[in-house]
Amino acid sequence: MKEFKRTLITTALPYANGPVHIGHLAGVYVPADIYARYLRLKGEEVLLIGGSDEHGVPITIKAKKEGVTPQDIVDRYHGIIKDSFEGLGISFDVYGRTTSETHRKTASDFFRRLYEKGEFIEKTSMQLYDEKAGQFLADRYVTGTCPHCGNENAYGDQCEACGTSLNATDLINPKSAITGNAPVLKETSHWYLPLDKWQKPLEKWILEEHKEWKSNVYGQCKSWLDMGLQPRAVSRDLDWGIPVPVEGADGKVLYVWFDAPIGYISNTIDLVGDDYTKWWKDPETRMLHFIGKDNIVFHCIVFPAMLMADGSYNLPDNVPANEFLNLEDDKISTSRNWAVWLHEYLADFPGKQDVLRYVLTANAPETKDNNFTWKDFQARNNSELVAILGNFVNRAMVLDHKYFEGKVPACGELQAIDEEAIREIKESVARLSENFDNFKFREALKEAMNIARTGNKYLADTEPWKLWKTEPERVKTILNIALQICANLAITFEPFTPFMSADLCKMLGLEKISWDMAGRFDLLSEGTVISEPHLLFEKIEDAPIEAQIQKLLDTKKANEAASWKPEPVKETCSYEDFDKVDIRVGKVLECSKVKKSKKLLQFLIEDGMEKRTILSGIALSYEDPSVLVGKEICFIANFEPRKMMGIESQGMILSAVNSDGNLVVVGPTGPVAPGACVG
Ligand code: 2FM
Ligand code: ZN
Repeated sequence: MKEFKRTLITTALPYANGPVHIGHLAGVYVPADIYARYLRLKGEEVLLIGGSDEHGVPITIKAKKEGVTPQDIVDRYHGIIKDSFEGLGISFDVYGRTTSETHRKTASDFFRRLYEKGEFIEKTSMQLYDEKAGQFLADRYVTGTCPHCGNENAYGDQCEACGTSLNATDLINPKSAITGNAPVLKETSHWYLPLDKWQKPLEKWILEEHKEWKSNVYGQCKSWLDMGLQPRAVSRDLDWGIPVPVEGADGKVLYVWFDAPIGYISNTIDLVGDDYTKWWKDPETRMLHFIGKDNIVFHCIVFPAMLMADGSYNLPDNVPANEFLNLEDDKISTSRNWAVWLHEYLADFPGKQDVLRYVLTANAPETKDNNFTWKDFQARNNSELVAILGNFVNRAMVLDHKYFEGKVPACGELQAIDEEAIREIKESVARLSENFDNFKFREALKEAMNIARTGNKYLADTEPWKLWKTEPERVKTILNIALQICANLAITFEPFTPFMSADLCKMLGLEKISWDMAGRFDLLSEGTVISEPHLLFEKIEDAPIEAQIQKLLDTKKANEAASWKPEPVKETCSYEDFDKVDIRVGKVLECSKVKKSKKLLQFLIEDGMEKRTILSGIALSYEDPSVLVGKEICFIANFEPRKMMGIESQGMILSAVNSDGNLVVVGPTGPVAPGACVG
């Protein structure tokens, strides 16, 4: 394996048109932060680059909807995103934005260099144009039917149902997202990056030289390359973005996917100035892109082709892209508000950053899509962080305070059981490093937790509380080892749960930690004072979990109501047909649930002539049927009598079906005498 001097880690720049959610975190930011922290612990030179992606059509659409400027939108969300990342302890060295002056200059210069080298082709083509809005419809400004899967709500750049990347002109029955009109085709010219020119170099670089990439990443690249690369437009007819920096390009901006990855370079420049060349051009620097699977083609094919066309930059050494995280078995969706938003989590669970980091790593979608549920979140906190990790550290410290007034006792001669525990922990540390080096953070986390498991088992097996009276010297050795295990936990958990690690280091009086200390048992010298212990993690009760689940249920209900459409009108019926149905007003005298039936309500109706019994299958919609007593309602008086649950029903109660499937009994809006005909 090639040796590198330093590592540049980039993280996908999230669009500043909404806050970040747990899907972004599990896929990109938590793993990138874990890796950066691990390298820093190893004493390596590393930069973690982040920032907001502030161009692109979704931002302008949101601004239009809210009646504000795109700049207002990105200012708002850049702030929310930046603060929430900081709150979760994502240790960016820089968190920039693509509306910065540095970025405008860096991206413009990049484009101009390629332009001057003749790396673009200029092509005229027919594009969709909204005549009413007087505007070309780039990317998400147009929706229509996906030609691949038939999804009626596909966007002009991608179908979210089948994941296919599209051109707006591919859509069947396209519709403008601005006016709703059907667009026309109009001629326009754009600059294209001829990806076909880079087909062979990309094939060699990925398919031959990077066989070690994750199989999901390698496989996606291979299928793109096998299809044959086509030229890609790198400009758009829009008024939001970086103006194309060449003459005669009025009204045209750089395509957001052209400028966004250059944002990694701009943000490095913002941090280190001219020294950026060391990070981007020195072959001894290793570059890693942390992204989600929807960004693979841009980071493994398009951006590398741009870098190859420039010729002076490094290519990424690896792109450890993750799959997607689902929420409660449903796809996370910003537009359906089906997400756990980071800024809301931080407000709802103050001081519990590590719990979210832990759960998202334990469930990381590293090789396949994975699922987050609130019940699992609670269980992992209570039965892993509290019961295994927190419990072990607390037991070791409480015992040390009880027997040795909080001082680290001396370690005497080791017995086989001590050596066994030490060996196991050293092996865990070795496996941990190996997993980190292969971007297998879930496995690495399991190994870190195994250290705490080993600690618990060690205390349970040695039972120092039983030896205190008879073998105090032995107890010293046992507690020395237990406290050294605590110190190992503070080190090995730092990349995963940095807040807990800092807290534990403070309690143990460990001032500086590094990865080469992991696996050692001389970390705390005899006599070191351990502070009064407090619990590292607290149990999470049912109430806050149920509140989160309720919030999601409310979202689901609101989405159902928003997407509800009335049934299509039935076939035309003649007056004669309608007249056969005798609808009347009746007064409810009694109403109760039918015994042994979940669905049936039994009504006693005053129908103007007599009293009649009618059964209706609406019990699930009326928890307390007595609310209907005294109400005037409509019923079909000549409906053929039917027997259900041994009771004869003499008619049918009319009710309307709500968007949530609930039934509501229908009646007159003013006073009407029982028996009156409806028609
Ligand atoms: O998919 C996204 O959210 C994009 N904003 C990611 C951009 S990554 C990079 F190129 F900046
Ligand atoms: Zn599709």
